[in-house]
Amino acid sequence: MKTEFLGLKLKNPIIVAAGPWNRDGKSIRKGITAGAGAVITETIVSDALLDVRPRIAYNGQGAQNIRLYSDIQVEGWQREMDIAKSKEGLVIASISAHTPSELAYLAMKMEKFGADAIELGISSPMGESLEVVASDAERVFEMTKEVVQNIKIPVMVKLSQNATNISRVAKAVKKAGGSGVSAINTVRCILGVDIETAEPTLSTYGGYSGAPIRPLGLASVATIAQTVDVPICGIGGIGNYKNALEYIMLGASAVQIGTSVMLNGFSCITEIVEDLERWGEERDIKEVKTIKGKALNNLKSFEEIKIEPVVSRINDEICILDCEDCVKSCIYGAIEKKNNEMILSSERCTGCGLCICVCPEKKFRLDW
Ligand SMILES: Cc1cc2nc3c(=O)[nH]c(=O)nc-3n(C[C@H](O)[C@H](O)[C@H](O)COP(=O)(O)O)c2cc1C
Repeated sequence: MKTEFLGLKLKNPIIVAAGPWNRDGKSIRKGITAGAGAVITETIVSDALLDVRPRIAYNGQGAQNIRLYSDIQVEGWQREMDIAKSKEGLVIASISAHTPSELAYLAMKMEKFGADAIELGISSPMGESLEVVASDAERVFEMTKEVVQNIKIPVMVKLSQNATNISRVAKAVKKAGGSGVSAINTVRCILGVDIETAEPTLSTYGGYSGAPIRPLGLASVATIAQTVDVPICGIGGIGNYKNALEYIMLGASAVQIGTSVMLNGFSCITEIVEDLERWGEERDIKEVKTIKGKALNNLKSFEEIKIEPVVSRINDEICILDCEDCVKSCIYGAIEKKNNEMILSSERCTGCGLCICVCPEKKFRLDW
């Protein structure tokens, strides 16, 4: 399924996100060989830092990381880009800095080393907390403008879900001449605390990623798509082709995948690309633009939602499960279970819809 993003023609919309899985030329080749439409380098900075240890934690749902940027100095990236670009494949260089001039310097270097585009990674929730910058539309404007004015390749800016007004920041990127935005970066987090030792899982605040942040990413992408006419790359918690399609239907032209590659290896890229292709073929959809933003028409503002009468129904009154999740979670006390029979009170039911989600057997539905 082809797409056009940042003026680049991608054979598919699946991009490997910035992270240590793309820490050098050799690992970038792995993403390209796996079939990705493009690969983004781990974020490159002027002063590469030593790694703290441990720096990645995972609780079975989401991951926290406190890894800050590439440990290869910018000059070393000439060698890595030669390897990354030795055969076909689009490579986007992720760079970060605190001042416009330093960002422009890094962007010029990476353009010279052969990058096809630049992603400004100015929204990390770690260290000096660039997410503060990512909330400040004026600073993002200045940084983007300085980079755009100094290079010829396209520039996208990676935004933070923590921005107070993500639309304002996306508008600033567009006004500064940026070709697109990506959303979202990891979300500031503490994964947990060991209550026996009083030790937080990792020793400082980190970035949360993986499946739990997908709803935040989807909302950010939809908000930008509804308010700013700018190409968007959706990021956060994509683990399969359906998740990628969710982002696309909410307005993304392409998507990025990070944690899933970290947990499952590059084969997950091949799987998602192939599944997406198959899904498209079955529906004769060859280009992302055919379905881009399709779900936005069904996304209303709260004020637009009509209060319609709903009728709750039980698909099958006999239930032999003993979970009683529906009974426990019905805050209106409308569901009862007598022996193996489910009883639904139409007087008490207000049509909230929760029982439909909690029942493992999908016994409930709402008709209207
Ligand atoms: C271990 C780790 C390191 C990361 N390093 C970077 C980085 O160098 N630059 C960057 O912009 N984002 C970085 N990210 C964020 C990812 O690119 C991505 O925005 C985020 O993880 C959300 O997507 P996901 O849920 O698919 O992982 C990192 C994420 C993880 C888990």
